[in-house]
Amino acid sequence: MDDAFVIAVDGPSGVGKSTVSRRVARHFELQHLDTGALYRAATLAVLEAGVPREDAARVIEVVRGIELDQSDGLTTLNGSDVSRVIRSDAVTNTVSEVAAIPEVRAILVDMQRCWVHAHDDRAVVEGRDIGSVVFPEASLKIYLTADPDERARRRAGEAGTDHGSTRRAIERRDAYDSNRAVSPLTVADGAIVIDTTHLTLAEVVDLVIAEASLV
Ligand code: C5P
Repeated sequence: MDDAFVIAVDGPSGVGKSTVSRRVARHFELQHLDTGALYRAATLAVLEAGVPREDAARVIEVVRGIELDQSDGLTTLNGSDVSRVIRSDAVTNTVSEVAAIPEVRAILVDMQRCWVHAHDDRAVVEGRDIGSVVFPEASLKIYLTADPDERARRRAGEAGTDHGSTRRAIERRDAYDSNRAVSPLTVADGAIVIDTTHLTLAEVVDLVIAEASLV
């Protein structure tokens, strides 16, 4: 495989996109881009600037002025590693509103395309709109889904939070991400839908690898 090879992995929160994407990337020796981490880092910059998320003009100005990067699973904001702090509740509770601003999306989509291009156009890219908007010509499009209760169980296990509040937080973010006007979470044309509710992580990874091997 010497040519461009992009695998798009989309789906809602807590479905296991990151772990699956990372493992598939390792298997095929591809780069891995977690676009959710970029939206989170942009949101962190907005919070640190003290800009209220309702003030779209100032949010856009902040996002326009930042430098984001990702390598070896670490996300940097203006050169500093922010991989941990972007998982804080403050960021998690604000990110969907920031990500719903069309100009913010345009800036980050452009950044994502440049990043993949700079990595020889060979990557597993995970997010919400990768197969539908960012890379509609991806070699393979995967849409992972799972029952909301199961997603909350997985997320609560990772984060050490309680099931009820995790489920409510996931549902709130799902509703926001699915109903926004620009690039809502949706199954892209041509995407292979995998319901992971009753599958182990290894089974999901194997399914994606099998699909990618057919491309
Ligand atoms: O994937 P993760 O849960 O970290 O993403 C955080 C948030 O970033 C999502 O809830 C969504 O609002 C936004 N996002 C997005 N488009 C993407 C990736 C993430 O709008 N491609």
